[in-house]
Amino acid sequence: MRMLRAATQGLIIFFVLLAVLPPWGCQASGQQAQGKPALDVPYEPTSYTITQEMLRIASVTSSDVVYDLGCGDGRIVITAAKERGARGVGVDLDPARIRESKENAGSAGVAHLVRFVEQNLFDADISNATVVMLYLWPEVNLKLRPKLLRELRPGTRIVSHSHTMGDWKPDAVATVEKHYLYFFIVPANSTGTWRLTGFDPKPASLRLTQKFQAVMGSMSVGSAIYPVTNGSLRGTSLRFTVEGMIRGVKDVRLFEGNISHNTIQGTIRDQAGNMVSAWKAIRDAATAVPIAE
Ligand SMILES: C[S@@+](CC[C@H](N)C(=O)[O-])C[C@H]1O[C@@H](n2cnc3c(N)ncnc32)[C@H](O)[C@@H]1O
Repeated sequence: MRMLRAATQGLIIFFVLLAVLPPWGCQASGQQAQGKPALDVPYEPTSYTITQEMLRIASVTSSDVVYDLGCGDGRIVITAAKERGARGVGVDLDPARIRESKENAGSAGVAHLVRFVEQNLFDADISNATVVMLYLWPEVNLKLRPKLLRELRPGTRIVSHSHTMGDWKPDAVATVEKHYLYFFIVPANSTGTWRLTGFDPKPASLRLTQKFQAVMGSMSVGSAIYPVTNGSLRGTSLRFTVEGMIRGVKDVRLFEGNISHNTIQGTIRDQAGNMVSAWKAIRDAATAVPIAE
């Protein structure tokens, strides 16, 4: 009888706990756990030497607005302000880190240039950043990647300490103190169908697809179709080559141009680097597809 009562009590406690406790793994990014913020990445500061290299690789100047998503004690944003005159915003979910950051900015005499926000980095408004610094984890970078590609302006520079961005290839890599630094430039969106003018009397168009900064596609000139090769973007600067028969001779042309919304303007060069002509392209805006994945 006593055993039956104990078993019944055990079952009741089990079901009460089941109802009260959250299921395993259901905690969302940044949710509070026992009064402490549930961080996606624990605190680990970047060394001063690595901080300086991150600023160097991003060519930070006084015109920049440097964001550090998960800013720790604020050292990257503070160093950017103190040594390069940049403005900055640090975002961290941990109130202790934000307190430290504000104190450190005051001691460094740069409180007028920097701002620290206690917030989940996934909710931060990053649209006015010109440089974004990250020292997170690989899976957090991957989760953040669509937000970076969607919300940052083309040409914004990103430096990620230690971790890559999956299949988004870095534009440059550096090593310092045996740590890798990955540098990315947010590419403009070149996708869609563009009507070309300025280099051939026949009707010409360009169809482009894009994977991060790599650009693929084809060019139609009259009834001829040429593949677009070696296509790449560095921010808003697009370049690609087109190889085909030009006036009966096999030839290669290098197209370079700057993308501004639905217009590209640039120059065409021959293999020797001589300018052949200018070119302009206007996109049918409805054909562009988002590049964020
Ligand atoms: C590895 S530390 C990097 C600190 C600083 N960026 C540096 O390089 O010295 C990661 C920081 O991200 C913060 N963090 C983790 N998850 C976060 C989230 N979801 N939102 C905002 N900050 C977060 C942590 O509190 C910690 O300060």
